[in-house]
Amino acid sequence: MEVFTSVKSLRQYLDHQLLQQKTIGLVPTMGALHNGHISLIEAAKKDTDIVVCSVFVNPTQFNNPEDLAKYPRTFEADRIMLENAGCSAVFAPSVEEMYPEQPVLKMNFGALETVMEGASRPGHFNGVGIVVSKLFNIVRPHRAYFGQKDLQQVSVVRQLVNDLAFGFELVVCPTVRETDGLAMSSRNTRLDANERALASHIYRILAGAGADLRAGKPVSEVIGWAKSEFEKISEFNLDYFEVVNLKTLLPVEKIGSTGSNAICVAAFLGPVRLIDNIIF
Ligand code: PAJ
Repeated sequence: MEVFTSVKSLRQYLDHQLLQQKTIGLVPTMGALHNGHISLIEAAKKDTDIVVCSVFVNPTQFNNPEDLAKYPRTFEADRIMLENAGCSAVFAPSVEEMYPEQPVLKMNFGALETVMEGASRPGHFNGVGIVVSKLFNIVRPHRAYFGQKDLQQVSVVRQLVNDLAFGFELVVCPTVRETDGLAMSSRNTRLDANERALASHIYRILAGAGADLRAGKPVSEVIGWAKSEFEKISEFNLDYFEVVNLKTLLPVEKIGSTGSNAICVAAFLGPVRLIDNIIF
C-alpha cells in the first residue's frame, strides 16, 4: 500500500493507474478508523481496481474547537488497518497541503443545511462541501463511498455531486454497529466505561421508535416517547430526535412509503456528541 502526503505525488500515482485503464474508488475519512470505515474500503474494493482512502481531520468542518482538538488521531493504527483491508493507497495530507490558503468560497446547501446537523453545527456542511470537492478534484474517482451513518452528509454530497457535475457514482453503505447496536464512530473512543455502556440506548430508542412507527403509532406520540426515554438517563443531553422525509430531511407528521422515511438523532453523552439514524 502506498502512502502519499502530497497532492503531486498522489496525482502522479493515479495518472499512472489511469494509463493502465484502472478504475479508482475514493473513501474519504478523518482517520481513527474502525470497521465502519473498513466496510467502505471493502465495498470499494469489490467494484474498483484502485482504492484510495483519504485520512484528513478537516479543520474547516469543526465548529467546536474542543471537538477538533480532541478528535482522535491514530495514523499508525489506521495505516495498518488499511493495509490489512487491501487498500491501494492512503492520502494523508497536512493542513497546509490541503489548504495552502484559506478558501474564501462559501457553500450553501439551502434547506438541506437548515435542519439537524446544519442547524446545530453552523458552517459544518460548508467545510465538508469544500474538503470533499477538493478530494474529488484531486483524486477524480470513478466512484466515491460514503456511510449512511452520516445521513445528512450523504444528502449534501449528493447535491454537490449533481450541482457541480462531478460525474462519478456516489455509493452509500449501511451503518456498521457494535454488538449492542451502537453505531461505530471514531468519537466512541472518547466515552468512558459508564458512558460507553449507556451509549447503546441510542440505538435501542431508535429501533423502538422505528417499530412503533411501522406499527402505525402517530409520529408525535413516538417522538414524545423517545424524548422521555432520553430524559430518564441523566448522562444524556438530547440535541434532536426527528422523524424526517429521507429526500427533503424535513420533519414529517405522517409516515410515507417504506424506505422514504428516516429517524435521526443527535445526543451528547458527557462531552461527546453522537449521531445515528435508521431508514424505514
Ligand atoms: P468520518 O467521520 O471519518 O467518516 C468517514 C466515512 O465513514 C463517512 O462516509 C461516514 O459516514 C462513514 N462511517 C462512519 N461511521 C460508520 C459506520 N459505523 N458504518 C458505516 N460507515 C461509517 O464523515 C467524515 O469522516 C468527514 O465528514 C469526511 C466525509 C471525511 C469529510 O471530511
